[in-house]
Amino acid sequence: MNNIEITSSKVRKIFDSRGNEAIEATVYIGSIEGTCSAPAGASTGETEVIAYPDHNINKSVEFYNKNVRNAIIGFNAMAQKNFDTLLHEIDGTDNFSAMGGNLATALSIANAKAVSKYLNMPLYRYVGGLNPEIPRPIGNIIGGGKHAKNGTTIQEFLVSSQGKTFFESVYSNIMVHRRVGEKLSEKLKGQSVGLGDEKAWSADVSDEEAINILKDAASEISRENNIKILLGVDFASDSFYENGKYVYKKGDNSRDEQIDFAISMNREYGFYFIEDPLYDRDFEGFAEITKKIGNKALIVGDDLYTTNPERIKKGIELKSTNAVLIKVNQIGTLSDTVNSVKLATKNKMETVVSHRSGETTDDFIAHLATAFNSRLIKTGTIGGERLAKLNEVIRIEEDLVQ
Ligand code: PGA
Ligand code: ZN
Repeated sequence: MNNIEITSSKVRKIFDSRGNEAIEATVYIGSIEGTCSAPAGASTGETEVIAYPDHNINKSVEFYNKNVRNAIIGFNAMAQKNFDTLLHEIDGTDNFSAMGGNLATALSIANAKAVSKYLNMPLYRYVGGLNPEIPRPIGNIIGGGKHAKNGTTIQEFLVSSQGKTFFESVYSNIMVHRRVGEKLSEKLKGQSVGLGDEKAWSADVSDEEAINILKDAASEISRENNIKILLGVDFASDSFYENGKYVYKKGDNSRDEQIDFAISMNREYGFYFIEDPLYDRDFEGFAEITKKIGNKALIVGDDLYTTNPERIKKGIELKSTNAVLIKVNQIGTLSDTVNSVKLATKNKMETVVSHRSGETTDDFIAHLATAFNSRLIKTGTIGGERLAKLNEVIRIEEDLVQ
């Protein structure tokens, strides 16, 4: 392994798509630099690492100045695993609660970006080796939950167009987003239709109405453009699970009713992608759903796993899901993320690399989704910070086809 030394680094505060402060890090190898900013969740999983110590971004910056800046000078940037281990050691806790998982994420990815630049190799190739694959986009179209006040109880209704190229798929997802907007304005005549954190439509409609509008719009666009469009849903159930019940506007679902509802999403409504249909401790309930419809649909764990290998291991043992959502800042470093991806892939679980509701224009997830051969990349459908990722996959696809 070559030895290329980190010569210096910088950390700064910038702003994310919600207008909140976010951490950005730059790692230097001489005059070559890698920069990364970390996103922020709203429906954060209970077992993910701590984004900032005491929810205070300034404490992360102070921690960096005091404990990280000098400690990484001279470190071999090529040894990503050792670099990430060093971050863990400097932090000294098991959940990055001293430095903040977002600082760790930004430094870890910034280091990988610097090395990939040094090697004159795109990040997707540096991380993923010889067989990168272009994912398909799955985009958020109608939303609520913790991402939009007065929206649906279910957090996200999504589509994934299956075009011949990534560009075509993104275009078709955007067309569905546009058509859903028209349908919502027609339906709600004069009442406001807004956009949530991920630029999905947010309106005062029931979950059932949202399902039907999404289905209708997707089948219209599918017919008009002769393209297959898969439907998806992210329940983000933790956000409406209270005292053993799933609390919807029209009434509560018991655990068994919620399991039936998730199954009906596939059987009655044809949904292909079903994320977090139950709260994050019901591994057995997930397994019941996967047993019934896992051969026809992706059952995805986000809050269930929080990109954590221990939890993914449990899901594999109990056959809880057939897919895992991957978010680097849920676990804090690139190497930990790669471990989770390897574990999932080895056990025939699909991976879906995902944005977070509060995003920057950083496009590293485009590279990771390609590097990990993920079936899907989950982002919004429109909005600059979402399109930063999708447009980067378009560029990567161009690179790969040549
Ligand atoms: P986030 O959640 O708000 O934590 O980013 C998005 C999701 O649940 O997929
Ligand atoms: Zn989710």
